Amino acid sequence: MGDLATEPILYSFTDHRVYRRESPLTIAEGEGIRIRDTSGKEYVDALSGLWHANLGFSDTELIDAATAAYSRLPAFACALGRTSAETELLAGELIAASGRRFSSVYFAASGSEAVESVLKFLWLAANTNGTPSRKLVVTRDSGFHGTTLGAASLAGIPNQHAGFDLPLPFTVRVPRVHYYRDHLDGETQDEYVDRIVRITRQRIEEAGPEDVAAMVAEPVMAAGGVLVPCDGYWPAMSRTLSDLGIPLVSDEVVCGFGRLGTLFGYERFGLDPVAVTVAKGITAGYAPLGAVLLGPGLTESLADAAEEYGVLGHGSTFGGHPVAAAVARANLRAFHERDLPGRVADLETSLRAAMEGLLDLPVVGEVRCIGGLAAVELMADATARRAFDPGRRIGRRVAAKARELGLIVRDLGDVIAMCPPLITTPGEVTEIVSILREAISATHREEM
Ligand SMILES: Cc1ncc(COP(=O)(O)O)c(C=O)c1O
Repeated sequence: MGDLATEPILYSFTDHRVYRRESPLTIAEGEGIRIRDTSGKEYVDALSGLWHANLGFSDTELIDAATAAYSRLPAFACALGRTSAETELLAGELIAASGRRFSSVYFAASGSEAVESVLKFLWLAANTNGTPSRKLVVTRDSGFHGTTLGAASLAGIPNQHAGFDLPLPFTVRVPRVHYYRDHLDGETQDEYVDRIVRITRQRIEEAGPEDVAAMVAEPVMAAGGVLVPCDGYWPAMSRTLSDLGIPLVSDEVVCGFGRLGTLFGYERFGLDPVAVTVAKGITAGYAPLGAVLLGPGLTESLADAAEEYGVLGHGSTFGGHPVAAAVARANLRAFHERDLPGRVADLETSLRAAMEGLLDLPVVGEVRCIGGLAAVELMADATARRAFDPGRRIGRRVAAKARELGLIVRDLGDVIAMCPPLITTPGEVTEIVSILREAISATHREEM
């Protein structure tokens, strides 16, 4: 069964030969925050699939919305000036939910496609606005923005570039915000923020701010290690971008739709983006959908470009699929009617309390929590901030042990990341973190 189930698939983000030896995982069904594999073993999925199943695996309202939409109109596209009623309603609801900060929505089928689209839109707008040199994009170390050519070029994660002849030469790379790992000895958080924001400004000034189209950034970096920004970071970055005349594109493929407790991730930090990219949680993962929400300036520029070139020469068949749109509408209703902000505030409180309990383990250097995101930084010597030799793959071993014990987490190097469904109760948080504690302790005993 193992061979039959896995040989035909070229898994993404996987080392195939190792993975085949180490028993792949095939999931048959799910309920609440739990999933069951084809052999009947049950797991708590503390990663919500791939950071996307925000309402768990059995939400009847979303399932009913999809079923009803399938019987009304199972297929249509959002192109050539036509769309489905569900897609049109969803666009209006997203714009209203943003307080009309955004004036149009471009629909895609994934996060990568949303990011790729916004890059093309920025370039098209630059050409139409008579500022054709504005093609550079500022992006941060450890950032993750998807895997298509442009989106992967933005990545600050080496395995997204190695062997792919990437990045394409349009990026200006600036520091991530990761106080625990990157601060100098004795440097306070404020001094650290001053330093990295100063470096960011220098790099942009060296590249030429007049040639920069935008900065694309996640409000909280997810796949880069759940890097919760220091308090002063976003205010200082926002001032710097505004001084330099550089717009912000907020990549909220993970941070949107309640993951940080707010509908949009930019709201949590008071950011002022000209565009937002979303996917994953927009449908709580129940159907593929991505979108770019565009402010009035960009919307007008793209309309001008379409007029100039005769058409907006960009689009896709599955972007804005009617069933995905119906699910996204049900998800938006759930956000308000089920008080997701209140639930996520409780989740954040219980996650933080439980995760801080791990700090007594000698190999836990730092724990990080915000909204429904959490991470543990595993270190060979936590006090001296000495990392493990990467060759020992400690993070991978802890994740494998957790899986053995019935818990799904993500190893990002020696960071163990979690993104549990937003419906996770305080009791389930205790269960998750106690399994994680056992996985770290057992790995420490056996392997470290
Ligand atoms: C911030 C961010 N942007 C974009 C993407 C790409 O989304 P997708 O996997 O739907 O292409 C991801 C995926 O994890 C992401 O975390």
